[in-house]
Amino acid sequence: MSERRVLVTGGTGTVGSAVVDSLAERGDVAVRAGTRDPAAARERFVSDPSFNGDVEFVRFDFEKPETWGRAFEGVSGLFLVLPPGGSADRVLDAAAAAVRVGVSRLVYLSVLGVERNPVVPHWRIERGLRGLDAAHTFLRASFFMQNFAEVHRRDIAERNEVFVPAGNGETSFVDARDVGEVGAKALTEAGHANRAYDVTGPAALDYDEVAGVFADVLGRPISYPNPSLLRFVRRAYARGRPLPFVLVMAGIYTTARLGLAGRVSDDARRVLGRPPRSLRTFVTDYRERFEPPDSSATDADPRSKVSGDR
Ligand SMILES: NC(=O)c1ccc[n+]([C@@H]2O[C@H](COP(=O)([O-])OP(=O)(O)OC[C@H]3O[C@@H](n4cnc5c(N)ncnc54)[C@H](OP(=O)(O)O)[C@@H]3O)[C@@H](O)[C@H]2O)c1
Repeated sequence: MSERRVLVTGGTGTVGSAVVDSLAERGDVAVRAGTRDPAAARERFVSDPSFNGDVEFVRFDFEKPETWGRAFEGVSGLFLVLPPGGSADRVLDAAAAAVRVGVSRLVYLSVLGVERNPVVPHWRIERGLRGLDAAHTFLRASFFMQNFAEVHRRDIAERNEVFVPAGNGETSFVDARDVGEVGAKALTEAGHANRAYDVTGPAALDYDEVAGVFADVLGRPISYPNPSLLRFVRRAYARGRPLPFVLVMAGIYTTARLGLAGRVSDDARRVLGRPPRSLRTFVTDYRERFEPPDSSATDADPRSKVSGDR
């Protein structure tokens, strides 16, 4: 059978699930979603009314090479995600193993500005992937709008504030659904081999402007208190966020504070053939997630709380 098959690692995550959705919607390749718990993942996708169905869930764990063989069987394209706290070496080992058994196209979720930042693991992963005998595409993504609906949801829903230590810096927020769609195109269409795309949203906004968009769409005052790094770390820590996670977030917002997160690129528009989604569209589509507690859903399953297309 000559059907093309693609494996999406991180297939249950913010971007991976958007890649899976986008590929399933296209319908021109067989889609396999990698997860450490296929039964739970299937349950989650299937309970989502907008899920369109034809996806195979397989066990895949970067830390367990014994899961790789079955997951890579018959696969020609691979979407790679470094999981939070994951090991760059494991990602590279898995990619090399995949290429050995016939994967010819690698699409990797990287970060904006990686080419100037050898400290982040993405830099080393990009370099390693370039050395493999397969076409690669790097998606150097800006800050995901979906972070508002996950990490910062409670501050917005319960306290009517966007509480991040970003000073007056701008960020070129991108909707993870657009990153996923760019990934699906890079996996299935011609013309993306050996390229790196800066995947950003359509505009750079500071957090006063972000709060303004939330207030407009949600119809209630939302403020940006512009907290210091210390205040932010204290609150995150008091909420029980693990220290490594708090430190990563502090690093990300310091980048914004220093004015290094605001670059806007045209790459997403060129690949998608339409402008990437604005923050206003994102907040409108996810507005249920930001409703105050009595009318809002829980954090249990962000996938099923989104109205509109994901
Ligand atoms: N957040 C941002 O604004 C932003 C911006 C640019 C780039 N990035 C990059 O995006 C990546 C994270 O992507 P995301 O936000 O889409 O992920 P995510 O929502 O945090 O989800 C993590 C995914 O990794 C999977 N996973 C966790 N441990 C794994 C393991 N040992 N083996 C295989 N899979 C594992 C999880 O699947 P299961 O639990 O189902 O196994 C899940 O699908 C990071 O590398 C980050 O640097 C983030």
